[in-house]
Amino acid sequence: MSYLLDTAEIRKEFPILQSQIKGRPLVYLDNAATSHTPRTVLEASRKYYETQNSNIHRGVHYLSRIATEAHEEARRSIASYLNAPHVDEVIFTSGTTDSINLVAGILEKGKVIEAGDSILISEMEHHSNIVPWQMLCESTGATLRILPITDAGEYDLTSIDKLLDSTTKLVALNHVSNALGTINPVETLIGKARAHSALVLIDGAQSAPHMEVDLQKLDCDFYTFSGHKTYAPTGIGILWGKKDILNELPPWKGGGEMIKEVSFTGTTYNELPFKYEAGTPNIEGAIALARALEWMLQIGVDNIAKHESTLLDLATAGLQEIEGVTIYGTSENKAGVVSFLIEGIHHFDLGTLIDQMGIAVRTGHHCCQPLMARFGITGTARASFAAYNTSEEIERFLQAVKKAKMMLL
Ligand code: ALA
Repeated sequence: MSYLLDTAEIRKEFPILQSQIKGRPLVYLDNAATSHTPRTVLEASRKYYETQNSNIHRGVHYLSRIATEAHEEARRSIASYLNAPHVDEVIFTSGTTDSINLVAGILEKGKVIEAGDSILISEMEHHSNIVPWQMLCESTGATLRILPITDAGEYDLTSIDKLLDSTTKLVALNHVSNALGTINPVETLIGKARAHSALVLIDGAQSAPHMEVDLQKLDCDFYTFSGHKTYAPTGIGILWGKKDILNELPPWKGGGEMIKEVSFTGTTYNELPFKYEAGTPNIEGAIALARALEWMLQIGVDNIAKHESTLLDLATAGLQEIEGVTIYGTSENKAGVVSFLIEGIHHFDLGTLIDQMGIAVRTGHHCCQPLMARFGITGTARASFAAYNTSEEIERFLQAVKKAKMMLL
């Protein structure tokens, strides 16, 4: 069903969307790479530096106390957004990549994954949900197994009962594919992983910005996402992990804040979440992330999802009318991402040419080289949508693609 948000009002909140590119209004369709930041978030960042800036959990003075309170209030707000069972399960990181590497590091250090074990990922993972596991396998002697996908860009579950067995210690999957847009039925895989007592990590980099996330319902063990894709600044992200599991696992980075007592004969470690937050954190980023998620809740996360789905339908229908276009990722269940190629045209040339017309899309392998290899291509052009995109922008994008096609062929 078609549904659109009041983008005229929403766009007033985003100064960068007023930009002109080569004399034309910017059409920003690269939201899967990074989203823009509304004034309320920019103001939260500014307010932090103008009135609260101080180191946290370390000082008795007034500024340190209010900065600490603002940081911990941000944690509570983010836990509530995710419907996390416990606030101290929410760990601040620099982003999804950092969160996944943290989990890989503690699973190795905690000897949860050892020689002879296996880790299952899918063929459509982002490099950040492939390479940390490859590195873990290299250092432990574990094996990385790959769940194949169909031509439509969905899980091919025909061999799942062979891929998951008593050696499987971890299943790590993206919730939504950044390159194809597929909303994956991770719940099915979580159920299957449980039957083998395997842990499950869900890479939520592309789900947290686009759909309601309920961690209590999802019941994975680890969930990760990045602030800069959820209308917040770069350099802040979240690792959520089940308390019982994180309490059993060893610390990762050593330094200030993650300790209880330090002496030259040994160190004891802090409780969650501080055990995994060594060093001075990105305090302003945490506050801004909470504000960004609150902004999403004000608009309505479900409304954002419906709006993006309408834009996806318009873009998909328009692209399908252009001769020579192939869309990669044709699942019925997709978030606002459309990846495509035009026969005889390199994605880079297409992206470069439509950039001259003010249209920002991403081209290339989208940090998913194995996925591109699966489709026998080097990359695609990818348009990805956010709450502030309009149907007029989709029309301008489609006109630009048609014009570029005429110029390039
Ligand atoms: N993961 C980001 C993307 O898909 C950078 O573009």
